[in-house]
Amino acid sequence: MLKIRPGTNPKRNRLRADKQVRAMRIDILTLFPDMFESPLSCSIIKRAQGSGLIEIALTDIRDFSTDNYRKVDDKPYGGGPGMVMMPGPVFDCFEHVQKLSPEKGRVLLLTPQGQKFDQAKARQLSAEKRLILIAGKYEGFDERIRTGLGAEQISIGDYVLSGGELAAMVIIDAVVRLLDGALGDEGSAKDDSFSEGLLEYPHYTRPEVFRGMKVPDILLSGDHAKIAEWRRQQALERTKKWRPDLLRDDNNH
Ligand code: 6GU
Repeated sequence: MLKIRPGTNPKRNRLRADKQVRAMRIDILTLFPDMFESPLSCSIIKRAQGSGLIEIALTDIRDFSTDNYRKVDDKPYGGGPGMVMMPGPVFDCFEHVQKLSPEKGRVLLLTPQGQKFDQAKARQLSAEKRLILIAGKYEGFDERIRTGLGAEQISIGDYVLSGGELAAMVIIDAVVRLLDGALGDEGSAKDDSFSEGLLEYPHYTRPEVFRGMKVPDILLSGDHAKIAEWRRQQALERTKKWRPDLLRDDNNH
């Protein structure tokens, strides 16, 4: 069964008192709720919802349009190309969503103008009780949405997406997998790339020899101290070679 529930249905959306208290509630305000269904219904995020670790609610901004044609954007004042998200539907949608749960929540506006999302930010967000993500179209939000809602702008990288939806999914995935109990193997988030400011060491599994390529002897040696040292060295070498920017002093992961 699909666990993503429309945030506009208060009955189905209610947190049930007899169930384990959820570690995090995530609200997503979007014009394209359908885009989220498959990514949020698979793998770790699906399990996190099933086990009560997170609750995700999607709310369609278009439901808050006051226009007969369900319009949510309009031409920019001052002229120019593209359309701008109108403040009215976003504000009304936001105020509706905020009332769905007593927790105030950290409000994130998804835009390429935002501060760049990284592992440190993911860790920071994973400590929140509630996240409210607002996804809009690229041409932009009316400036009063940012200022009026006191939203924190966030971007997933220096390129332009046609909307904030994919960025929201990236952020949700990175955050949810850090929650205690989200990963099957509790240790695996700790060793991730970036968790100590380094890329990961190389991994191998069976077979021992594949098309002539052999697993490094050290990994078969059973010497755990030596293996740990080798992995650390490998992680450092790979970072130097592939992502030297991560080793600079101003990178405080
Ligand atoms: Cl959050 N939104 C859009 N539209 N484009 C982006 C982005 C966000 N992050 C990187 N590119």
